[in-house]
Amino acid sequence: MAFKLTDKVKWVGKIDWELESFHGQEYSTHKGSSYNSYLVRDEKTVLIDTVWGPYAKEFVENLKKEIDLNEIDYIIAQHSEPDHSGALPLLMKEIPNTPIYCTPNGVKVIKGHYHEDWNFVEVKTGDTLDIGESTLTFVEARMLHWPDSMMTYMSGDNMLFSNDAFGQHYASQHMYNDLVDQAELQQECIKYYANILTPFSPLVTNKIKEVLSLNLPLNMIATSHGIIWRDNPAQIIEQYLKWADNYQENQITIVYDTMWNCTRHMAEAMVEGIKSVDKDVTVKMYNAGKTDKNDIITELFKSKAILFGSSTVNKSIMHGTSGILSMIKGIGFKKKKAAAFGSYGWSGESVGLLEEELKAAKMEIVQEGIKVLWDPDEEAKKQCVEFGKSFAEKVK
Ligand code: FEO
Repeated sequence: MAFKLTDKVKWVGKIDWELESFHGQEYSTHKGSSYNSYLVRDEKTVLIDTVWGPYAKEFVENLKKEIDLNEIDYIIAQHSEPDHSGALPLLMKEIPNTPIYCTPNGVKVIKGHYHEDWNFVEVKTGDTLDIGESTLTFVEARMLHWPDSMMTYMSGDNMLFSNDAFGQHYASQHMYNDLVDQAELQQECIKYYANILTPFSPLVTNKIKEVLSLNLPLNMIATSHGIIWRDNPAQIIEQYLKWADNYQENQITIVYDTMWNCTRHMAEAMVEGIKSVDKDVTVKMYNAGKTDKNDIITELFKSKAILFGSSTVNKSIMHGTSGILSMIKGIGFKKKKAAAFGSYGWSGESVGLLEEELKAAKMEIVQEGIKVLWDPDEEAKKQCVEFGKSFAEKVK
């Protein structure tokens, strides 16, 4: 289903409606995704990125319906992760000598994956490719989000091929930002940023400022996943600048895991306490053992403060909470306040362990954790309400 973006540019990618997870099981894709590949036809013909390997055959066959493959003068591999480079092996069997433009790191990663010595042309920021009326200018985006990542700006059509940046894992036949459900789009954009780009936020800010300083006219941002930004494309750039700046909403999130609901009962009492001192704050509560991990990370990204709870099990914490803590240590959220709680039956290590993990995740622990023996009775529930009140006051 190729479609025309401009007189010179066609989308020739693949919408993956069935995709349930990405990066192995690291990222849930409730709404599928797409692998956006673009065919640019000026005096020269350029293919920008390909698709994930399982769709390589379909991709190459569809591409042949658009063009004699031998007419492709250049391939640009903006990013070597297999969701974009996966069709290269099959494509290069057909056109083995076609030059592949990528960064020096791109050459290493492509060779690392496919063990082929294709006709690579290394490019760096500011290098250009004259393709007729238009010029393609390369902009390296190192560690956004891999060492090899880059973007490509096309003059004339004033289009930025942004690769992973500004994308979303969101399958839609509409393919343009102004045609899709705006709430869905916003949710998939923030989830993508929170889970994938947060660790690189300082680089995001610097790269955007670098590109904006060039004052390039921008009609469209052609991402490599999800929809293409054609209606006010600057809006997603502005969103990224906000999200990269230690973004927070007036939200407290409680994440817990519980064996027999005792820790949940503590959490519910804490919600009561929080709401009694701050009626405006949004409080959300998630059982980490039952809720999608990436949805939780998205909520934590939005939160100014987080309460983590777990029952003690085998002198440790439950794996739902443990998994989320492991993720946030890697993601590296900044300027978030936290505290710990949990129910126990005899040894009661969970709260201390949670606090250690929170410190390791660079969270600011604003008050000593609370633990309750078995299911909280009325007195213990009151203590949990007070715990919630004092937490809300400290993070207000
Ligand atoms: Fe869409 Fe980093 O791959």
